[in-house]
Amino acid sequence: MTFAKITGTGSYLPGKPVSNAELIAMHGLDSSDEWIIARTGIRFRHLAPANTTASDLALEAARRALGAAGRQPNDLDMIIVATSTPDYIFPSTAALLQAKLGVSNGSPAFDLQAVCSGFAYALSVAEKFIRSGSNRCVLVVGAEVFSRILDWKDRGTCILFGDGAGAIMLEASDTPGILATALHADGSHHKMLAVPGQICGGQPTGDPFLRMDGQAVFKFAVKVLAEVAEEVLAAGGMTAGQIDWLIPHQANIRILQSTAKKLGLPIEKCVVAVDRHGNTSAASIPLALDESVRAGTIKRGDTLLLEGVGGGFTWGAALVKY
Ligand code: UT7
Repeated sequence: MTFAKITGTGSYLPGKPVSNAELIAMHGLDSSDEWIIARTGIRFRHLAPANTTASDLALEAARRALGAAGRQPNDLDMIIVATSTPDYIFPSTAALLQAKLGVSNGSPAFDLQAVCSGFAYALSVAEKFIRSGSNRCVLVVGAEVFSRILDWKDRGTCILFGDGAGAIMLEASDTPGILATALHADGSHHKMLAVPGQICGGQPTGDPFLRMDGQAVFKFAVKVLAEVAEEVLAAGGMTAGQIDWLIPHQANIRILQSTAKKLGLPIEKCVVAVDRHGNTSAASIPLALDESVRAGTIKRGDTLLLEGVGGGFTWGAALVKY
């Protein structure tokens, strides 16, 4: 039987960390470092320069993941980029990344749009291609420049997000890597978190900024993250006590704490990067994973539970033997 295994990770954050105080001063926000830390746990985020795109961030993360796996760009037989902030309406950010990497073997490349669940979705899709036997070496990337879609006058949202990219190499293996996945969506909640704009007749129409009902998102996220974690554990025949590391989408430290608590896990088993990255949407899980791998915190053989939730609404999880 063919399994899918993570063989390398990489990530990239643009520029220097921007502190809460710097962000407040930069945009004249009616906020404070104390409020942001107390309500979100966020201390820093990275913001991409104006001419830097999602594919630029993806390229750096991808090169590092390829290097960690000991692979060359033309070894790739598929690229999936999870993003809600693509370079263009089309072509896909994955196609642009393929060109930037110099992949010339004609293998498929496509974007996947599930907002902050994008990486969980992309990982699950890649795993299915590998398990079916049609692909053997897939690059899965989460890359975002959320700073492009933030309303800097809306203090309830603009302090939350950051830019960055994370990537993994997922390869065919004789031994299990991805043990189980679960994906969900409920589009009836599409208004709770959205960028409800579009381009029409050469002009942006509707609202081009991220809009969110923060409290409703919070409650929904805590509920479904606990549910999908239990679901994927049951599918993999495991209990929460067998998890070495929980890597939830990095949105708010209070969501991470509530999720760990609901699963009966000590917060020490939860990877926390939101304090340094803010919410990087589809990039948040692979960024947190790569930093932990490179720090030596996550080791080969560890059992990981990755899970995301985001606009749509979408949510999903993966149980992984690293
Ligand atoms: O990937 C998923 C994406 N989104 C999320 O995960 C977000 C989930 N939601 C949250 O993280 C939280 O709801 C927030 C951090 C967005 C807000 O925290 P909260 O504890 O739910 O605050 P709140 O919305 O109830 O607002 C409390 C007060 C309000 O003032 P009043 O009406 O009580 O006078 C807000 O206007 O805090 C005010 N407020 C702020 N004050 C200082 C909102 N944003 C700020 C701010 N600085 N940046």
